[in-house]
Amino acid sequence: MNRVAPRVGLEFLPQTMKHACMPETLEVLFTPADFAALAARDLSSTVCVVFDVLRATSSIVTALANGAAAVVPVSEISEAVALRRKRPEVLLAGEREGLRILANQTGGIDFDLGNSPREFTRDRVEGRTIVLTTTNGSRALRACAKSKLTLVGSFLNLQATADFVQSHPAPNFLVVCSGTFDQAAYEDVLGAGALLDLLWPSLGECKIADLAQIALQIYRQNSSDLSAAMKFCRNGRRLASNPDLRDDLPWCLHRDKYPLVAGLDGGAVTKFR
Ligand code: MLT
Repeated sequence: MNRVAPRVGLEFLPQTMKHACMPETLEVLFTPADFAALAARDLSSTVCVVFDVLRATSSIVTALANGAAAVVPVSEISEAVALRRKRPEVLLAGEREGLRILANQTGGIDFDLGNSPREFTRDRVEGRTIVLTTTNGSRALRACAKSKLTLVGSFLNLQATADFVQSHPAPNFLVVCSGTFDQAAYEDVLGAGALLDLLWPSLGECKIADLAQIALQIYRQNSSDLSAAMKFCRNGRRLASNPDLRDDLPWCLHRDKYPLVAGLDGGAVTKFR
């Protein structure tokens, strides 16, 4: 039976963890409306971790693991096309309705890559800068651009991200679920919960929002079989029903395949560690 997870009192923490990661507040945002509202907030003392498990943040992490120099998230197709005009060497990547963006959507340019992490192979991305526009994930990252630190979260780099958060404490900690279209996405809540599960023992006396508890509980209820949980996800069902994309599911759920930390540096995501 799952219960609301108690916070561990400071007296029970090992000495090394007492000062490792102690934000004053912990929040989780579930929907795109929530992350759109970040524009009006002061994020200068906030560390953000953005999840778009299916698939934008998983694709970014895979691209960096395979040697991409940087991934530049942009909200609109037109921004990606304008960047290519300025810098013809960049690769264009992304999706609309889950599929690679084609010339009829851009006024003449076929994107080089879609948003399947399996496309971001070393032979295609090594040394390259990739401009990425996706329905939700690239927008969520942009929404966090003014934070003290924004990290790219996925199951692929979960432990490395948790370790980095612990070694970069800040007053406020915010986990952003990118969602799908204008709604919450189950898989992003799972990702957020999995990260919190790792960080929970070190949170100390922090003010924890109920959505953080909800994400943690949903993750714990599903943690023994994340693949089975994909039936609860609109994105999971959509990918499973497409023979070309269904292999993205196990890819994106592969835990700690790439022990790297990815974060926003200026307007681009690069490998921090
Ligand atoms: C998004 O950014 O909304 C997604 O990653 C969608 C997808 O890849 O299908």
